[in-house]
Amino acid sequence: MIESPYRHDFPFFDSQKKKLKRAYLDSAATTQKPSSVIEELVHFYTKDNANIYRGIYATSQRATSKFEAVRDKVKTFINASERTEIIFTKGTTQSLNWIVFGYFWDRLHSDDEILISVMEHHSNLVPWQQLAIHTGAKLNYVNLDEDQQLDIDDFKAKLNSRVKVVALTHVSNVLGCLNPVTQITTLAHKFGAKVVIDGAQAIGHMSVDVQEINCDFYAFSGHKAFAPTGVGVLYGKKELLEKMTPLEYGGEMISDVNYQNTSFKELPLRLEAGTQNISGVIGLGAALDYLNKCKLNEIECYIKKLTKLAFEQLISIPEVIIYGSKNASFHQGIISFNIKGIHPHDVATVLDIKGVEIRAGHHCAQVLMRYLKIPACLRLSLHIYNDETDIQQLIIALHEVLRFFKHGS
Ligand SMILES: Cc1ncc(COP(=O)(O)O)c(C=O)c1O
Repeated sequence: MIESPYRHDFPFFDSQKKKLKRAYLDSAATTQKPSSVIEELVHFYTKDNANIYRGIYATSQRATSKFEAVRDKVKTFINASERTEIIFTKGTTQSLNWIVFGYFWDRLHSDDEILISVMEHHSNLVPWQQLAIHTGAKLNYVNLDEDQQLDIDDFKAKLNSRVKVVALTHVSNVLGCLNPVTQITTLAHKFGAKVVIDGAQAIGHMSVDVQEINCDFYAFSGHKAFAPTGVGVLYGKKELLEKMTPLEYGGEMISDVNYQNTSFKELPLRLEAGTQNISGVIGLGAALDYLNKCKLNEIECYIKKLTKLAFEQLISIPEVIIYGSKNASFHQGIISFNIKGIHPHDVATVLDIKGVEIRAGHHCAQVLMRYLKIPACLRLSLHIYNDETDIQQLIIALHEVLRFFKHGS
């Protein structure tokens, strides 16, 4: 029996003990929060709450140093070379939008190309479409190979000197595959293209080293890695962030304002206008501390073990069609599937009655749904608080779904 050594750190699961046990299998949408993060938020609001930078009084200075300490933690966590390369945002979506609209918007032309993949989340697709519409540049897509992984040969074939940017997800939120982002970056850089990585599904699941990947930009959300919602990170190489146009102007990002003109602060504040999500950033710091305590290699191992079990149990049901690799070890805690002949929303509704919480829909990846020729699918996504009982509950409930829809009982 696979038991989670981490589950007791998450009060969400205690609150449910007396009711029908809920198997929360939707961590790719958002994660539950450990008590250390919740306690840090309570501590901040009860002891340290003041606006940052502005006050010369003790509480404001305490809040400022806690906030800025998180920038250092993020720098270390993703191995950025400088703390000024870490910009706080609302999340992956905002980070990616700022990259597109703040950096690439005026830098592409009609004979340029943007290369993304068919597995991208809308956050890493729709902004690039807008850029293509604005500049006339061609938006090109890398396809999947036979095992429904990123087709690296197709990527190589579509790479050329007209490609100015390659934007790719680190881990797919539907197929669960881990893309070879270091190899992709090396290849793209040979043609002079910049590389943007959407790290929403990688962060908190594995160690991420932006210098090793050598990507130009990396985006992630805190809430998918145990931090509160509304906080995320935009990492960029310093020389690129320095050239980026701020998309918001206002307090704290200026150094001097006169009647007609303004001079701006240096990075990172130049890109962080207005009052920041102070408690969110402090909560992110606590989440990173928790992840470091658990050790990312152990987290990765635990999730892999559980994913393998879920995969084996799912493929043993003949009506189940799994998307993504046929090899369980290529699924990073995410398995998307359908049940032949039953709409995924119907399946998810019955599962919910049985206490199983999984996602049904297009998962903000409609291009991928079109590519796979399906309207929607079910997705289970695991994190360290899940255990074998959650998988068993899912499998028992799926058999009930089959009995209900196929045999009417
Ligand atoms: C791969 C991927 N990219 C981007 C996002 C967007 O993240 P957020 O909604 O936190 O901005 C998600 C969210 O599910 C995702 O899975």
